Amino acid sequence: MFIHVLGSAAGGGFPQWNCNCRMCHGVRNGLINAKPRTQSSIAVSGNGVDWVLFNTSPDLLAQLATFPKLQPARSIRDTAIRGIIFMDSQIDHTTGLLMLREGCPHEIYCSDMVYEDLTTGFPLFRMLEHWNGGINRNSIPLNGDTFTIPAIDGIEFRAIPVKGKAPPYSPHRHDPHTGDNIGIQVIDTRTNKTLFYSPGLGEPTEDTIALMSQSDCLLVDGTFWTEDEMSEVGLGDKKAADMGHLPQSGDEGMIELLKPMKKPRKVLIHINNTNPILDEDSIQRETLKKEGIEVAFDGMELEL
Ligand code: MLT
Ligand code: MN
Ligand code: ZN
Repeated sequence: MFIHVLGSAAGGGFPQWNCNCRMCHGVRNGLINAKPRTQSSIAVSGNGVDWVLFNTSPDLLAQLATFPKLQPARSIRDTAIRGIIFMDSQIDHTTGLLMLREGCPHEIYCSDMVYEDLTTGFPLFRMLEHWNGGINRNSIPLNGDTFTIPAIDGIEFRAIPVKGKAPPYSPHRHDPHTGDNIGIQVIDTRTNKTLFYSPGLGEPTEDTIALMSQSDCLLVDGTFWTEDEMSEVGLGDKKAADMGHLPQSGDEGMIELLKPMKKPRKVLIHINNTNPILDEDSIQRETLKKEGIEVAFDGMELEL
């Protein structure tokens, strides 16, 4: 399977338009060794022609402009996007769907909880009904069964509910429901290789850890370095856990979680603009390198 990282930053992107933190200021002014990044999303394909998007970032149009394989090539109106999977209903993962309105109806795959948010609190799906019928919604099984997307050849998907957070606008923000956030194992039925994707992984359960350990590649939550990162840089008092993210550092952080996993290639995605790992010369980045953990960047390509 082919995996193309369209965007690798968390909500706000890097640099964030209104942020003057050390990292945003540094990248904006060329003071640190760091690459700008758009808000996270990946595209996956079995045959290199038909692609499924994981999330639709607010930066989607700019991302499409950088990736010719998703551009129109066959007819007067055309796309290689044959399906869209939503991992949650966060603004940074869903807003880009509005930018795809000219191509409705889209085949959308999401949990019941995400469907609820996107038809009520943030009624994207309802709004799009006014563009050629809007979307065709397909439910994602959360019981461990695999599912397929008819237009995507040679790939199966297995979703697992993960403990993250519903968006601030959702009635589930402080009342978690199964399916608010999911992780997905993507299985190439030809090569038998697997990717595990989970940009919002607050608290890994036994099931999640088991699925991660037996995958060939992980693209997982790289939002924060520390639990208190936002307050440390003077940006409010929200902790990583309040936002549904597992920080990299600490005894129970992502680095320790990944350490015993010998099989997978380990890549962090959905990096918040405050995270020092964005600075390629930082000691935090050095620590990741020593642990064999990579940091996704926009345009990164993986093949499994
Ligand atoms: C999150 O995952 O918590 C988001 O990136 C926050 C946001 O989009 O504002
Ligand atoms: Mn996010
Ligand atoms: Zn910033």
